[in-house]
Amino acid sequence: MEKARLLPRPNGHHTRKSKIGFSWKSIVLATVLATLLLAWLRGVHPGPRPTLTATQLSDGLRQCANNHQHPFVDYSLASTRLSIRDSKSPVKVFRNATLIDGDGSIHHEVDIEIQGDIITYVGKPRAETSTEAVIVGVGGRYLSPGLVDMHSHVGIRQEPQILMNADVTESTLPVTPWARAIDGFKPSDAAIKIVASGGTTTSLVLAGASNLISGEGMVIKHRDTNSVWEMEIDSTSGGTSPKRQRYLKMACGENIKQIFEKIPGGPISRLGESGYVRFAFEEARNLLQGQDAWCERAAVAGGVGLDTPYPTSLHWQTLVDTLRGDVSVHLHCYQTQDVFSQFDHADEFGYNITALHHITQAHEMLDEIKNRGSMLATFSDEGGFKNENYHASWYMLKLAAEAGIPIALTTDHPAKHGQFFAQEAQIGHHFQLEEKLAISSITSVPARALGLDNRIGWVRPGYDADLVVWDSHPLALGATPLQVVVDGKTYINASQNLWEESVKRKQAFAPAPPSRSQKVNDNKTCSPGQKDIVLRGVIKSYINGLRTSALSNTTAVVRGGVLQCVGDSICEAIASEAIDKGVPELHLKAGYILPGIVSATRSHGLSELVSEPSTKDGELSGADVSRVISAADGLRFGDRRLAITHRRGLTTLITAPISNGFIHGLSTAFRPGAAHSLSPGAIVKRDVSLFLSIGHEGKNTAFPSESSQFNELRTLLTSQSPPHESWALAANGTLPITVRTDSKDVIAKLIALKRELPALRVVIHGGGEAHLLARELAAARVAVVLAPFRCSRLTWETRSCPPGPPLTDAAGPDVLLAAGVKLGIGIWDHRDRWATNALWEASWLARGLPAGRRGEVAVDLVARNMREMYGLEVRDEREFVVYEGDPLEYGASVALIVEEGEVQRCWPDVEEEYVY
Ligand SMILES: *[C@@H]1O[C@H](CO)[C@@H](O)[C@H](O)[C@H]1NC(C)=O
Ligand SMILES: *[C@@H]1O[C@H](CO)[C@@H](O)[C@H](O)[C@H]1NC(C)=O
Ligand SMILES: *[C@@H]1O[C@H](CO)[C@@H](O)[C@H](O)[C@H]1NC(C)=O
Ligand SMILES: *[C@@H]1O[C@H](CO)[C@@H](O)[C@H](O)[C@H]1NC(C)=O
Ligand SMILES: *[C@@H]1O[C@H](CO)[C@@H](O)[C@H](O)[C@H]1NC(C)=O
Ligand SMILES: *[C@@H]1O[C@H](CO)[C@@H](O)[C@H](O)[C@H]1NC(C)=O
Repeated sequence: MEKARLLPRPNGHHTRKSKIGFSWKSIVLATVLATLLLAWLRGVHPGPRPTLTATQLSDGLRQCANNHQHPFVDYSLASTRLSIRDSKSPVKVFRNATLIDGDGSIHHEVDIEIQGDIITYVGKPRAETSTEAVIVGVGGRYLSPGLVDMHSHVGIRQEPQILMNADVTESTLPVTPWARAIDGFKPSDAAIKIVASGGTTTSLVLAGASNLISGEGMVIKHRDTNSVWEMEIDSTSGGTSPKRQRYLKMACGENIKQIFEKIPGGPISRLGESGYVRFAFEEARNLLQGQDAWCERAAVAGGVGLDTPYPTSLHWQTLVDTLRGDVSVHLHCYQTQDVFSQFDHADEFGYNITALHHITQAHEMLDEIKNRGSMLATFSDEGGFKNENYHASWYMLKLAAEAGIPIALTTDHPAKHGQFFAQEAQIGHHFQLEEKLAISSITSVPARALGLDNRIGWVRPGYDADLVVWDSHPLALGATPLQVVVDGKTYINASQNLWEESVKRKQAFAPAPPSRSQKVNDNKTCSPGQKDIVLRGVIKSYINGLRTSALSNTTAVVRGGVLQCVGDSICEAIASEAIDKGVPELHLKAGYILPGIVSATRSHGLSELVSEPSTKDGELSGADVSRVISAADGLRFGDRRLAITHRRGLTTLITAPISNGFIHGLSTAFRPGAAHSLSPGAIVKRDVSLFLSIGHEGKNTAFPSESSQFNELRTLLTSQSPPHESWALAANGTLPITVRTDSKDVIAKLIALKRELPALRVVIHGGGEAHLLARELAAARVAVVLAPFRCSRLTWETRSCPPGPPLTDAAGPDVLLAAGVKLGIGIWDHRDRWATNALWEASWLARGLPAGRRGEVAVDLVARNMREMYGLEVRDEREFVVYEGDPLEYGASVALIVEEGEVQRCWPDVEEEYVY
């Protein structure tokens, strides 16, 4: 996981070292004295040599025998299960499915028969199906194996997360191999079912990654039970493997430096991190050698003469078992130097690293990873927000796949909510991970990595009956399960309504965008700085005043950086005239023209690397109501985060000053594509809104409670002589106030305040619980910037978010849209992936609308509504993005961006393989 931001570190770290130091000294002293005393006593009274008890000896011999056994995958499990199946249990047939199997292969008109908890038949419809069988008509919809997420914290980082229920890492010590996820796992975590509703039926729940060796993970099936023992699945059950597969979480890099920086003893550097890992494995190796020596002696003389029991240590045994090859190692590291150090330690002590998690720099070390037979367990488009993932590339998965390295995608739930696991494969595919590999990266590849591909990850006879029926192709935008079956039981089933709606959904799937080898801009007819261009092959325009109502294949002309016309006969004439004057023509295969995306984010332009103060504007105390600061004065242009958002078609961002609570200050609208603050139009509009946080996030020493924050806000807005003019401007509606909150109670109070002061213009940023007040928001004309778009129940203030299909027909944003609330899409995180995906999110939200309206509504969400909320001029024909392909689906790429009178970027520069 990423460092848990919500939770302060428990008290008591600072005294830890001295306490331990003291007790160590006393133990050493006592041991030395006791040994001397014993030696003296023996010298005085020589007695018989101590020998082992019979139990000690037999326990030890059992351990020695056990050491020769290792877990393995029993591939005869499926046939064994079929031969012993209970032929009396009820049979269910999923009739006429389009099966997407664990290797991504597609099979049409397939029947899947299950009996009890296993699959018994997969193939063409059978004539002899029992008349008692229950038939589920799949109607040609896609059916896949249950998804397997090999990096989750479900159950140990519970929703909603509060201080007392976070049990992810025992981060009081840098090395805790003895810690076990199972001891912190809570079957009551509501996320277990919500994650399953996205299609995940199996998760590897890992401890960590706030320390170096965080302990053992466990594999669970997502099931409805109160017993963790009934959830855990064990690779030995039913098979012949003598030992179950175990999973160790290790980590390195920045998380550990941050956590241990202030703890005496550290580690505070990568030098220390490596040291601590090696010290630990040295202990383990010594113990292993002691055990082996004991076993050798025991073997020679049947234990005669052995005077000590078989050496054991709860503290180190997990690492001993790792050295014996019984525990797979899951390593969370990002960069090459970190991974190479860990490979070095693995070589020094003789263990293997099964999977490299997070690893955003894999494309820099493909050969090494490949040669070691390791694999990736990572994300599709994560990175860029901290130093260690700064070098992430959108094309890493593609490059790793080309090198033949197995790829599993993961969510790190709740870092990305496990409910949206399939989206990792969708976005991976968007960035050129081949279709079949994208499917296998969430099914068979992780199943194999867990040593469980003899029962999960595939739809095969004898395998676990874990099945997902989808409402559309699982790689299509917004794909959602209709039914999730776990061990033969229907765990989740969508409403009749969703089943019916899915018939209308497109069952086709989105193609990946052109790779660099398919040169869109072959003739170099487009280059930055150019003011004029003729666009051929334009299919659709969403530009205000220049919209095309239907899909057609036509021409658009840009002169002086302004879109002149799209698609009528006059445009053909304007195009001919331009061409006569030497204006270049760009031939698109399927051109879509959209206004530039406008989004409101937390810190773009003010902070590049979250944990590095030198890369940021800085943080205000949030306490000073008389000095209302403008973000415009802190903006820094030209950084990587801004470049990434710009390359994905975001042309205007709105950011408030960063603060530690309540008062942030004045938000500024600016161009992420500008080189510096003197570039033309760099500051679109200086002070667009007065930004505040109210509720939990608003708490600071000056305003420690929600009531004190609200009281202050009312006082400031009603004061005849407020301490700063902004409060008066807000009170009379000249300046909108934006309030960061998810809480329905804060939102309700703001609506009441607006009823009292009708001139107020209020925007809610966040809005996790806004759906509960949808009608009131619409009536009061209070707008909402959904941030994040997909609310999860991670915090107390979002604990009532409806998860959306298939568990509830509507998600929060659906309710708001239907009620007519003015909506935009923003983020409240430092992760750029959310900002760059705004258009996909908008498209997903508009999915239920008639085809003609869908695109318009989606584009409004990310452009026009935001401009309206923040009083920004609509200038679509001067600030627009041309896409190759439909950007409301996966598979489109930005062809060119026009702003400030000229082309700013052209394909392929826009989607360079290595962003930096
Ligand atoms: C399977 O479903 C599809 C889509 O509804 C339908 O066209 C096809 O005829 C069905 N096949 C069978 C064998 O029922
Ligand atoms: C590491 O992997 C190699 C190659 O698969 C294998 O021979 C060896 O036994 C493994 N070592 C451990 C400790 O698992
Ligand atoms: C799932 O829901 C559909 C539509 O409401 C219904 O026809 C079907 O019987 C349900 N299946 C189960 C197993 O509950
Ligand atoms: C658009 O028209 C041109 C010229 O007639 C043709 O070459 C191109 O294939 C068409 N594109 C589409 C998407 O139909
Ligand atoms: C490049 O120019 C040729 C000749 O004018 C034209 O046929 C082709 O479509 C152009 N390619 C692109 C990508 O514009
Ligand atoms: C709003 O208040 C400001 C500051 O007092 C004042 O300058 C401005 O004219 C007012 N505007 C309106 C529309 O009342």
